[in-house]
Amino acid sequence: RLLIIDFGSQVTQLIARRLRELNVYCEIHPFNKVDDAFLRDFGARAVILSGGPASVTEAASPRAPQSLFDLGLPVLGICYGQQVMMEQLGGKVESGHHREFGRAFVEPASGHRGDGIFAGLFAAGREEVWMSHGDRVTTLAPGFEVIGTSPNAPFAIVGDESRHFYAVQFHPEVHHTPNGRVLLQNFVRLAGFTGDWTMGAYKDEAIRKIREQVGDARVICGLSGGVDSSVAAVLIHEAIGDQLTCVFVDHGLMRQNEAEEVVAMFRDTYNIPLIHADEADLFLGALEGVSDPEVKRKTIGRLFIEVFEKHAKSVGGAEFLAQGTLYPDVIESVSFSGGPSVTIKSHHNVGGLPEKMGMKLVEPLRELFKDEVRALGRELGLPAHFIGRHPFPGPGLAIRCPGEITREKLEILRKADAVYIDQIRKHGLYDAIWQAFVALLPVRTVGVMGDGRTYDYACALRAVTSVDGMTADYYPFTHEFLGETATRIINEVKGINRVTYDITSKPPGTIEWE
Ligand code: XMP
Repeated sequence: RLLIIDFGSQVTQLIARRLRELNVYCEIHPFNKVDDAFLRDFGARAVILSGGPASVTEAASPRAPQSLFDLGLPVLGICYGQQVMMEQLGGKVESGHHREFGRAFVEPASGHRGDGIFAGLFAAGREEVWMSHGDRVTTLAPGFEVIGTSPNAPFAIVGDESRHFYAVQFHPEVHHTPNGRVLLQNFVRLAGFTGDWTMGAYKDEAIRKIREQVGDARVICGLSGGVDSSVAAVLIHEAIGDQLTCVFVDHGLMRQNEAEEVVAMFRDTYNIPLIHADEADLFLGALEGVSDPEVKRKTIGRLFIEVFEKHAKSVGGAEFLAQGTLYPDVIESVSFSGGPSVTIKSHHNVGGLPEKMGMKLVEPLRELFKDEVRALGRELGLPAHFIGRHPFPGPGLAIRCPGEITREKLEILRKADAVYIDQIRKHGLYDAIWQAFVALLPVRTVGVMGDGRTYDYACALRAVTSVDGMTADYYPFTHEFLGETATRIINEVKGINRVTYDITSKPPGTIEWE
């Protein structure tokens, strides 16, 4: 396995992700946990030193254990990791004058081309890379030579090939370094990895870690019916069986047949102990007459926590709360906490609950990205149509029904949404779309059907493409598709006589309608 020593870069997890894509097993450990004893016990076959925000020119800035360089292991230093390597091995780093952020081009130094760390690179003479650094190396450590340069970073790639020590100034792990993956692949091949590790092995490792963390304690897991919490629940159940109880808070704002499907799948297919907290009356009662979107969100959030807490207590003595937190959630909460950002909307989660209930967290998906969670879900045998489902927000249909929510409106919305999704699936478009749904508008307009007058609701269809939900573009359906879908909704759903398509991107719009 490969050890990544983390010096605090925002993109350290991307190194791990790239290695998983190369079928190499790796673990990330923070620099302050890695000492001589750790290195000995870990038994790494190679080590990568990540980037980080510190400057090696400052006293007390982080270092790798000096013994690392005497173990005969291949080492790759990235950005701050390069500077640490140079400094610790007898080179020099200077601060300041040559800050460089963004795109740059690296060329091989003379005499270096075509093999080793460069195999498959520089076919076009130079490689585009992404730089982000303030300091830079000014004197190489003994034994190293320059093997790649860029105009602002004469030591863009350096190496001591006899020891398989390499260090790069740029970030090969980010998308903006298009062939960074090739460089990482060359490094792991030089280190002797054959690339035979799989998501199946990840699953086994995750199960082992859950058992180790939890012991024989009880765990509760809030199940929303979404992919993340479902994969977390099934994984934890495989690890600790009936020490796990799931709580599904059904707020009456789910889509058509969704609550029944979730209950059937978890209780009957997976035999996971499941509490179905059917609290539609409570939630819809509290939402009566409420049309302000933030009041809706806060009402749902408060009740959700109350209900969850009540049922969690009924399990008795649960020490752990399981959550399907993904890596992007972790980065967001780190980079935005305490930042100057404004609250656009109050997101629905159970933040704060574990502290309040004195529980510890189990978050087995914390290192994974969404598509990796899907791969893990497939590994666990979850059905393909379930794994590929579009994201669905915690407050459910409440944020797709602007204005006051009534049972009648929810019923109309569910039917229209089911027709729309059916259309999308029939046309083979479901997987090309990040999220698609119907929003029921709080207006009624006059229409004519047959010989009669109608006075019914208007709805908006929404479909967007996105990578992470942070920005989004509307999906370019054909006119035929839109026309056919509008006709079907108006014919099949009593209560709607007008259909519109929302062509707003995000920003300036948001994905949901509230
Ligand atoms: P917006 O509407 O903010 O949505 O553009 C971005 C993404 O986040 C989802 N979303 C939520 N997910 N709890 C969630 O779990 C929430 O409160 C929530 N609000 C929005 C939304 O569905 C989209 O994928």
